[in-house]
Amino acid sequence: MSDDFHRIRRLPPYVFAHIDPIKAKARRRRRYYRLGHGQSGYADPQHIVEKLQETVKDPRTHRYSTSRGIPGLRKAQASYYGRRFGVKLNPDTQIVATTGSKEGFANMASAITAPGDVVLVPNPTYPIHSFGFIMSGGVVRSMPADPNEDFMRSLDRAVRHSIPKPIALVLNYPANPTAYTADLDFYTEVVKYCKANDIFILSDLAYSEIYFDEDAPRHPCCRCRAPSISLSNSPPCPRPIPCPAGAWALPWAMNG
Ligand SMILES: Cc1ncc(COP(=O)(O)O)c(C=O)c1O
Repeated sequence: MSDDFHRIRRLPPYVFAHIDPIKAKARRRRRYYRLGHGQSGYADPQHIVEKLQETVKDPRTHRYSTSRGIPGLRKAQASYYGRRFGVKLNPDTQIVATTGSKEGFANMASAITAPGDVVLVPNPTYPIHSFGFIMSGGVVRSMPADPNEDFMRSLDRAVRHSIPKPIALVLNYPANPTAYTADLDFYTEVVKYCKANDIFILSDLAYSEIYFDEDAPRHPCCRCRAPSISLSNSPPCPRPIPCPAGAWALPWAMNG
């Protein structure tokens, strides 16, 4: 029986799978410092572990969840989003809970991509940003990861020279693995351009809650007033819409 599956064959090598044997070899010879996986070297915060233990002991949690995520969680997310970013979201039609932003990205990719659709993805980037689309039969076109003054020119070139025209642009700031950050002016320009060209913006905000200033940085949606997308069968969303995907583990220094 063949184990040569065409979707898997299209995937580029997974960077960590490539690095692991190199690490194992290096470990035998000398001491080395790992700058790859951002894995915390300490235990998860005690109050979070305790809450998880308490929750898992409650038989009411031993049931299937609702497909969009439990209503209380989605309401809490909507009110956090409102407080933090000043954007009002409808918890029933604009929020969906997933088991991590990776899963959210993979599902969103298969929901919006038809075979041959072009998606613009930063290079280098976090693997699921391209893997999700490749697995869904899409074609990934690389974009610079650096949000500098050349970014808009590269975006315009990519849009004009791609056939068919790209359906979506992935953004990820603060970025992994480059740590680039983008300001509101950058987002304003990109949103304006994507609106004019009918392109989804898929924004991975995994690190939006990690900052070192006293004041929390504002989010693109604060100025663009752009709501998030729902992956469920709620009313169709007009394009383009930044679809922010948040990660709950990373802001609390936990491994995802
Ligand atoms: C940019 C980025 N997005 C998503 C994730 C994964 O998030 P989650 O654990 O919520 O799937 C990570 C984790 O390293 C990440 O760096």
